[in-house]
Amino acid sequence: MIEIEGLVKRFGSYTAVAGLDLRVESGEIFGFLGPNGAGKTTTVKLITGLLKPTAGRVRVAGFDVALQTLQAKRAMGLVPDEPFVYPKLTGTEYLRFVGELYGVPLADMRKRVPELLEMFEFGSWGAELVESYSHGMRQKLVLAGILLHDPEVLVLDEPMVGLDPKSARLVKDIFLKLAGRGRTIFMCTHILGIAEKLCDRIAIMIEGKMAACGTLEELQVQAKKGGLDLEEIFLSLTGGGEYAALLRYL
Ligand SMILES: Nc1ncnc2c1ncn2[C@@H]1O[C@H](COP(=O)(O)OP(=O)(O)OP(=O)(O)O)[C@@H](O)[C@H]1O
Ligand SMILES: [Mg+2]
Repeated sequence: MIEIEGLVKRFGSYTAVAGLDLRVESGEIFGFLGPNGAGKTTTVKLITGLLKPTAGRVRVAGFDVALQTLQAKRAMGLVPDEPFVYPKLTGTEYLRFVGELYGVPLADMRKRVPELLEMFEFGSWGAELVESYSHGMRQKLVLAGILLHDPEVLVLDEPMVGLDPKSARLVKDIFLKLAGRGRTIFMCTHILGIAEKLCDRIAIMIEGKMAACGTLEELQVQAKKGGLDLEEIFLSLTGGGEYAALLRYL
């Protein structure tokens, strides 16, 4: 459902994504991990057509993102790392706006918009301007927005940031339900517990390259350390503890 071949992105002389090859199948929940600055968000922008690659190509739902951009975008829903929502719209207006962009029939929208607002427990907030929303409420509104047109591929950059535990559980259940009916979920996350519990496969990016990819068991083999949990695998691949000497100044 997502096919990435030889993907490279340079910003001037800096290489943010240094030759990425990856396939994500339909029905898969795929976790994209890595330290700050590893190139995760850049990859998300390349997958969703917000950035043009320096080299390589991305296909989503069979469409080349560079050549068949509109068809590819129609098959996707994106939750970016910052939940941008027009501040002068109400929550309800935002969802209707997104629905119209994706051509959701009006009759479906009349049913789905209140349902989604109820599912995310907006109560009477649906009628309030987004500028009065908390960060978590904006995040939930953006999530509700991508559920409206039922995309084949959901691309989410840190979707759990700012969500309270109940909302985070709801979002996990939504992902499992969607994957169960063949939707594909590609998610960047720093929350290793979520990746461990939720993701069928996990990739760990380091400095624009994929350092490891597979199921948790496969990652344990790749890290040459059986029985490790994801945190230990992550730290063994990315290096950890170098700051120990500096802690003595505290
Ligand atoms: N528009 C840009 N111009 C120049 N450099 C950029 C640009 N966008 C990203 N970079 C650089 O590319 C590298 C990868 O950034 P990216 O945002 O993809 O990291 P990330 O893995 O998402 O990190 P984080 O975990 O902090 O979200 C960083 O060093 C960043 O400074
Ligand atoms: Mg990022």
